[in-house]
Amino acid sequence: MNLSFTIIPHFSLLFFISAVILFPRMAFSLGINYGRIADNIPVPEKVVPIIKSIGATRVKLYDADPTVLKAFANTNIEIIIGLGNEYLATMKDSNKALNWVKTNVQCWLPLTKITCIAVGNEVLTLNDSSLSDNLFPAMQSVYNALVTLHLEKQVSVTTAHSLAVLDTSYPPSAGKFRQDLVGCISKILDFHLKTDSPFLINAYPFLAYKSNPKQVSLDFVLFEGSNGSGGVVDPWTNLHYDNMLFAQIDAVHSALEKVGCKKVCVQISESGWPSKGDTDEAGATQENAKKYNGNLIKLVQQKIGTPMRPDVDLNIYVFALFNENLKPGPTSERNFGLFKPDGTPAYNLGLAGVSYGNSNTSSSSGGNSGGGSNASPPGGSSSGYMSITSDAWKVTLQSRMLIFWLVLSPITLLAFQR
Ligand SMILES: *[C@@H]1O[C@H](CO)[C@@H](O)[C@H](O)[C@H]1NC(C)=O
Ligand SMILES: *[C@@H]1O[C@H](CO)[C@@H](O)[C@H](O)[C@H]1NC(C)=O
Ligand SMILES: *[C@@H]1O[C@H](CO)[C@@H](O)[C@H](O)[C@H]1NC(C)=O
Repeated sequence: MNLSFTIIPHFSLLFFISAVILFPRMAFSLGINYGRIADNIPVPEKVVPIIKSIGATRVKLYDADPTVLKAFANTNIEIIIGLGNEYLATMKDSNKALNWVKTNVQCWLPLTKITCIAVGNEVLTLNDSSLSDNLFPAMQSVYNALVTLHLEKQVSVTTAHSLAVLDTSYPPSAGKFRQDLVGCISKILDFHLKTDSPFLINAYPFLAYKSNPKQVSLDFVLFEGSNGSGGVVDPWTNLHYDNMLFAQIDAVHSALEKVGCKKVCVQISESGWPSKGDTDEAGATQENAKKYNGNLIKLVQQKIGTPMRPDVDLNIYVFALFNENLKPGPTSERNFGLFKPDGTPAYNLGLAGVSYGNSNTSSSSGGNSGGGSNASPPGGSSSGYMSITSDAWKVTLQSRMLIFWLVLSPITLLAFQR
């Protein structure tokens, strides 16, 4: 390195080149979901280089598997661990919560950089009161355990919601929470504000497209809308949306404002697109997955915010790292991965400077781990999105997309009421 200061002409060029290559990696922070409902994905030690190869610096898990947490030691990758829905009832007991935090969090710190615990996944939209009644008490109990261990400053506590916690999401400014969930969500939001933790939401424009391919513009859902298809304008705010994900995120911002909670930080804990699906799953192709995930990662790199929050970086965890062969449901569920089980890319993301890790395939023993084994089936999770208020019909139509939206919304609602 010292040489470079004496032989300036030659090495300054090198510096310039390496800065160009390295800078994007350091300037943005990409997250990825590492789901493990599979019996053919690489062992955790071989997964770390794969994650680094796409420049991800944050990983979200659905459990707290020891082999995984061990593999991430000394990597500086930030980890969200998951506490499965099946543990919620147990966690109300403060001693059990303390023990859980000791064995699943404290003993890994600081070598494994656990920064957050996601307590439960999409609990409120399962409509199961035996689960949802336990959610907030479990979050509090886990937080109190962290306080007891003096870890509450370095590890935050949250839970991931489906976008279906909204019952209105169009136009984005009309976004609001399902009335029956407002009580519970308000308690959780107070908790976020007091403990400085993020509000997590899983958002899938794919599901909106899949349920209405004839009316929803593919360009709009794949972030290709800025090239002439117009996008949509929110008639109440006049904000222009050229992609559906931003509209979904801003609908969440509106819902938060309506319950007096403008300050909480929103993160997208899951978003992605499958590279394969059943014949009735429109849009589930490699080409579309490449566009959606490639464009999404580019937006994260460019640090672009949504129209309502232009100065706030997108905080996104792509779903998912691997195709997971043991997930139930339609074919798309097993094909959300950026990587195939053998560690090779499922498709070329088209990102500059990405070198894919040379990972050998070997069976992962704990593939279907106990904790949070329901790695959030995306199915159904956007059912709240395309809903509409009757007021919207009165609005002057401002673009082709808006017409699409208005026409398809009631149809989509019907589709979801199967
Ligand atoms: C849950 O309940 C809400 C409100 O009653 C309803 O709209 C929704 O369809 C239900 N979801 C499921 C998955 O049953
Ligand atoms: C817009 O069009 C240009 C030229 O056809 C193309 O290179 C670019 O990828 C397009 N961008 C989007 C977001 O569609
Ligand atoms: C992968 O590992 C297996 C078993 O350890 C070995 O037989 C095989 O040669 C390895 N393949 C590569 C490409 O390294």
